[in-house]
Amino acid sequence: MRAALREDLPRLMAVMSAAFVPKWGEAWTRRQVEDSLLAGFCHYCLISPAGEPAAPGEQAAGFTLARTIAGETELLLLAVDPQFRRQGLGTVLVEMLAREGLSRGADRLFLEMRRGNPAEHLYRGLGFEPVGERPNYYRTNDGQRIDAVTFARPLRNKS
Ligand SMILES: CC(C)(COP(=O)(O)OP(=O)(O)OC[C@H]1O[C@@H](n2cnc3c(N)ncnc32)[C@H](O)[C@@H]1OP(=O)(O)O)[C@@H](O)C(=O)NCCC(=O)NCCS
Repeated sequence: MRAALREDLPRLMAVMSAAFVPKWGEAWTRRQVEDSLLAGFCHYCLISPAGEPAAPGEQAAGFTLARTIAGETELLLLAVDPQFRRQGLGTVLVEMLAREGLSRGADRLFLEMRRGNPAEHLYRGLGFEPVGERPNYYRTNDGQRIDAVTFARPLRNKS
């Protein structure tokens, strides 16, 4: 494992445990994150409480985990530690990902979320529009079924 990833994984996982409510079963394990990054297509961004890329040794306040394949960047996970929410960090993370996607040759940002996740307000505010749904796609830890809703946002202006 690269040295940077070895240093970043614990910081990313600390945000993961603080940010995701266990009931929804959305948090990934360290192994899942590590495997997704080592497989190659996935990339991540760690942000500091000040909204900058987290410097080595600095506390991370949020992260994105995404993959870019065939001209599309898919946001797999977006998380901000509850103590740093509603300060614009989620917004900064999505915009950082948009730039990263462009630099990796993507034309659009895509994501899928459970219906009813308040994150929808953030996504709509950033120009994402619903493009589909998958009925009963998710199963919560207590067995409840919830629809998945997919959203997309173009990364390049059509001319
Ligand atoms: C979703 C999440 C990343 C938002 O992070 P954040 O740093 O608080 O987001 P921002 O401060 O950039 O929010 C920007 C705007 O989005 C909207 N918004 C964000 N969170 C919201 C919420 N819980 N309810 C309603 N609107 C919300 C608001 O319009 C907000 O602007 P405002 O604070 O001026 O009203 C964070 O709540 C989180 O980690 N949630 C748990 C994990 C999760 O569900 N991730 C998404 C699916 S993977």
